Amino acid sequence: MFGLWLSYLRMILLLIHLINYTEAKRRLRWDCFDCQMGPQFADPEFKCNVGGSRSSLLNVELNLLKELDAIKVYVKISTRFKPTITYRKFFDITFNGCRAITDMVQGTMVSNMFNAIVKSSNQPRKCPIKKGVIYYHNISIEDALPTFVPSTQLFVQADFYSRRKLYLNVSLVGEITDK
Ligand SMILES: *[C@@H]1O[C@H](CO)[C@@H](O)[C@H](O)[C@H]1NC(C)=O
Ligand SMILES: *[C@@H]1O[C@H](CO)[C@@H](O)[C@H](O)[C@H]1NC(C)=O
Repeated sequence: MFGLWLSYLRMILLLIHLINYTEAKRRLRWDCFDCQMGPQFADPEFKCNVGGSRSSLLNVELNLLKELDAIKVYVKISTRFKPTITYRKFFDITFNGCRAITDMVQGTMVSNMFNAIVKSSNQPRKCPIKKGVIYYHNISIEDALPTFVPSTQLFVQADFYSRRKLYLNVSLVGEITDK
């Protein structure tokens, strides 16, 4: 009888632990956000900056001087678990940017991130991307991070090409932590 009661108790403790675990949301702090855009593609005073009280938000605002089409994007994510070691590639991907903005498959981790990026933006949903002001306000990737992502320092590089010409370089340094 006592043994049964004990195993119930153990099960309850396990459940509490699991619930806590799945609710242990990840925090993401950005320390550096750098963008370089070719002068023929955007006004020199374009903005890429980190915002929010916890430095978890990203803002981008630019005046596009040239129409963009046939967009190719290369993204590389590197991680390291302590500041004393060098970053190692965790994952990289090249994709068709025009296809991604038109028919992003919903319900995946990638689409959650994409939705977080375009939520407060005027990003066009198809190519070609016309000249003019484009903004992305308060991009918060944090909410799209799955809880199983480990605490780590992050280094993200993204290169954007239009008709095979590099038009934008982005680099981001940040850290994923426990709540
Ligand atoms: C982008 O970064 C690469 C190196 O990572 C550099 O060679 C290139 O000049 C940069 N391009 C722009 C447009 O800043
Ligand atoms: C973005 O976040 C800042 C600080 O959290 C807030 O003051 C501002 O209203 C937000 N802007 C938008 C467009 O959501």
